[in-house]
Amino acid sequence: MRDKDNALPALFTALVTGANRGIGWAVAKGLLEAGHQVYFGCRSKEEELKSRVADLPGGERGEVVRLDLNDSASIDGAVESILHRSGRVDILVNNAGIVRDKLLVRMEEADFREVIDVNLVGPFRMVRAVLRPMMKQRYGRIISISSVVGTTGNAGQANYAASKGGLEAFSKSVALEVGTRGITVNVVAPGFIETDMTAGLPESVTSGVLDRIPVRRFGTGEEIAHAVRFLADPAAGYITGAVIPVNGGLAMP
Ligand SMILES: NC(=O)c1ccc[n+]([C@@H]2O[C@H](COP(=O)([O-])OP(=O)(O)OC[C@H]3O[C@@H](n4cnc5c(N)ncnc54)[C@H](OP(=O)(O)O)[C@@H]3O)[C@@H](O)[C@H]2O)c1
Repeated sequence: MRDKDNALPALFTALVTGANRGIGWAVAKGLLEAGHQVYFGCRSKEEELKSRVADLPGGERGEVVRLDLNDSASIDGAVESILHRSGRVDILVNNAGIVRDKLLVRMEEADFREVIDVNLVGPFRMVRAVLRPMMKQRYGRIISISSVVGTTGNAGQANYAASKGGLEAFSKSVALEVGTRGITVNVVAPGFIETDMTAGLPESVTSGVLDRIPVRRFGTGEEIAHAVRFLADPAAGYITGAVIPVNGGLAMP
């Protein structure tokens, strides 16, 4: 049943972390194309990003906001500024993430903590910052980008896989807490996507991986953006606590 007093706005307000490049850029662009007002979160070079956003179709609905996941104050500041400027925050995409790949015998505690801090504590900080406003407006779409390795594990990525598996469990838990408030919490789990993160992989690794992907290619940021747009839509209100794989068939549930 729809809450009649809770009319949805004509324009939804979205925030994407790490939106200056890679998957985040494609996701933010996709949400702009879907007609939303989009805040492109970035932690540096805001001026350069502002001019790129202004040049996009629908760029007049794009805003740039400084946001560093390692810095709680910058997260709270970004969300406050969005609420001040737009009055609401409807869609959060936890996209920003890092890798510090090493076999466990060589992995320092700092390598482990750094990845957990950005990839898992970062989304916790983000969700905590937007949850009250979303609960108040009785509407929200929270979408986090995990990874196929969050389920399968991956040699050399114990820190990264732990962060992504944790992000999936975290999202399911929050979905249970806010299901009655019109807020859905979901995860998109990409396989190998063409971005800076995979650009440095040696040829031997790339060809080995391609052999295991049924569609025999890496995915694109736009293909991740498509899944995010789907989950961000008001019509996706009956999907929550889900992990949507977008991996060319690399790992089938
Ligand atoms: N590419 C893949 O194959 C793949 C596969 C599965 C999952 N994913 C996940 O998809 C997401 C995006 O990956 P990508 O390939 O687009 O990565 P990418 O090209 O390396 O971009 C990473 C983004 O995260 C931002 N970022 C890193 N640390 C941050 C921090 N402390 N605060 C705020 N922003 C920060 C970066 O900002 P700067 O530009 O300032 O560094 C950049 O915008 C990540 O969560 C990644 O784990 C990627």
